[in-house]
Amino acid sequence: MKKKSVADVEVTGKRVLVRVDFNVPLDQHGNVADDTRIRASLPTVRYLVERGAKVILASHLGRPKGKIDERYRLDPVAQRLQELLGKPVVKVDECVGEVPKAAIARMRPKDVLLLENVRFYPGEEKNDEQFARRLAELADLYVNDAFGAAHRAHASTAGVARFLPAVAGFLMEKEITILSQALENPERPFLAILGGAKVSDKIGVCENLLKKADALIIGGGMANTFLKARGFEMGKSLLEADKVELARVLLEKAENRGVDFLLPVDLVVALAADPDARLKVVPASAVPAEWMALDIGPESVNAFREVIKKARTVVWNGPMGVFEMAPFRTGTFEIARALAQSEAVTIVGGGDTASAVEKAGVAGKMTHISTGGGASLEFLEGKILPGVAALQDA
Ligand code: 3PG
Repeated sequence: MKKKSVADVEVTGKRVLVRVDFNVPLDQHGNVADDTRIRASLPTVRYLVERGAKVILASHLGRPKGKIDERYRLDPVAQRLQELLGKPVVKVDECVGEVPKAAIARMRPKDVLLLENVRFYPGEEKNDEQFARRLAELADLYVNDAFGAAHRAHASTAGVARFLPAVAGFLMEKEITILSQALENPERPFLAILGGAKVSDKIGVCENLLKKADALIIGGGMANTFLKARGFEMGKSLLEADKVELARVLLEKAENRGVDFLLPVDLVVALAADPDARLKVVPASAVPAEWMALDIGPESVNAFREVIKKARTVVWNGPMGVFEMAPFRTGTFEIARALAQSEAVTIVGGGDTASAVEKAGVAGKMTHISTGGGASLEFLEGKILPGVAALQDA
């Protein structure tokens, strides 16, 4: 699945439309609260600037649903990007039509311009051909560096590639290379760690990883459904009753394929999902009726740590418990630390898991933290992402 990259094409003097994923969290004052995704785009932006391209950036922010929503204007993002780049970034309040056209006509090589939020236009999420054409009119070349949005078949992530030569940016290239390597040619043993609230969000990824991995660890709320499938009562824990049968089938598949399938052996349970609630550690087979599991217990951490130590490749997606609350974060943080100490290639899925690793203070110790939440999950499911499919093959 090798795609042509921005390094394979002539960019000097060209108007280059770069789709980035600047969908970043904002604080209560509307300032950028976490600029990881902006920083991740810098190699591509700087490369284009150094080579004398006219750099036209496009992104979505939030889900304004095809209408202008003042909360989701990209001005704070332009501000932060300008600080990081150390050069002016012109921000225009529209995406297509005369306003951006006039601003682009004034651009000189090495200039950087940021268009308004593409999701202010209904044509974006509909992948409307007319809207894609109007975006394409602005440029000579299209670079997609928005791995985080590559699972969306939208006008700026996929449609526009029909009207311009389309290549991958460096972030897109890096994400695809690292994730494909783990799936197709991992150093073994290959361990996948899955967590998060629901089995239903992770069925596809579970199925695909059962075909690829040597061992699978399941934690977080989704483990409850598997424990129930093993015959344990889970008290008031989050549980998807309609997925218990599916969990049983997945356990059976793992056994038939010789995949080591590890579930928590003990759990931190509380009377409520509340940081002040009473809590205790119980065996996974003995969750009392009125209690709920909110984290994995210390014996589970020890068991999981041993498997992590032996692995040569580890992919992790989804926390082990309700790590947003201090009393239930130990399991997740301990797994993060175990990965940090490991010699293996460690790949962390975006979203919650990336934030957990960050909070545990070990982000710098991971081989790769994906900038994509949904995108990395769909990639691990084995799906072809529309934003990747639209790019020219190398
Ligand atoms: C993300 O944050 O996962 C991406 O930017 C995609 O955003 P979306 O889920 O609103 O499409």
